[in-house]
Amino acid sequence: LRPAIIAMDGPAASGKSTVGYRLAALLDFLFFDTGVMYRAVTWVALARGVDIQDAEAVGRLAETVELDVRPPRAGEEDGRHCTVLADGEDITWQIRAPEVDRQVSVVSAMGRVRRALTVQQRRIGQAYGAGTQEKAGIVMVGRDIGTVVFPQAPLKLYIDASAEERARRRHRELLARGKAVSFEEVLADMVRRDRLDSERDLSPLRTAPDALVIDTTGLTPDQVLERILDLACARL
Ligand code: C5P
Repeated sequence: LRPAIIAMDGPAASGKSTVGYRLAALLDFLFFDTGVMYRAVTWVALARGVDIQDAEAVGRLAETVELDVRPPRAGEEDGRHCTVLADGEDITWQIRAPEVDRQVSVVSAMGRVRRALTVQQRRIGQAYGAGTQEKAGIVMVGRDIGTVVFPQAPLKLYIDASAEERARRRHRELLARGKAVSFEEVLADMVRRDRLDSERDLSPLRTAPDALVIDTTGLTPDQVLERILDLACARL
């Protein structure tokens, strides 16, 4: 296996970070979740009282806030979550709050925000994808990794699942973290977010023409992983 960037895209709660994290661990690649960067900018904007509709102000924030995204802490339960610091403050769990879920698609549709974060993603991807760092490569997860951030990635995966299954997974996760939300609420928010992410003008969620599409509905993470490993070995 040569050093590489594996691009993994898909809608909310499709299983891409669970499977991406495990794939990265197996290959000794860095796992990097780009969604946390959009979430972090959103959370910081909300926390600092920046008007979330003000593209100039939020864009400026995205350019100036110092984001530090670190691999998930080993051994932690549900350990696929990257640790995220914004200007030195650990906001790993704050960025998973339902209010961030509701606002993040507004922020991620802003050109200035996307430009600022894409530059950082390319820098990290190029460093790790070349195999010059302590890892053998990188699994980068998001919405536009295979289409915009790294269109030349040798392996692109598009991870999907039915809306109901994805909402069930997210609902279970929120309940486990003590968030009292109804399934219907989670489903409605998720469908709305997917629509915004797919219909926006800039880097909308799309399947890259050369991506391998995997529907994880009804599959366990192990089964998905097995399928991906077969495909990865053939392509890398
Ligand atoms: O993957 P996750 O659900 O954490 O992503 C949160 C949001 O960040 C998405 O709904 C989307 O609006 C935005 N995002 C994006 N491009 C990426 C990753 C995430 O626009 N590469």
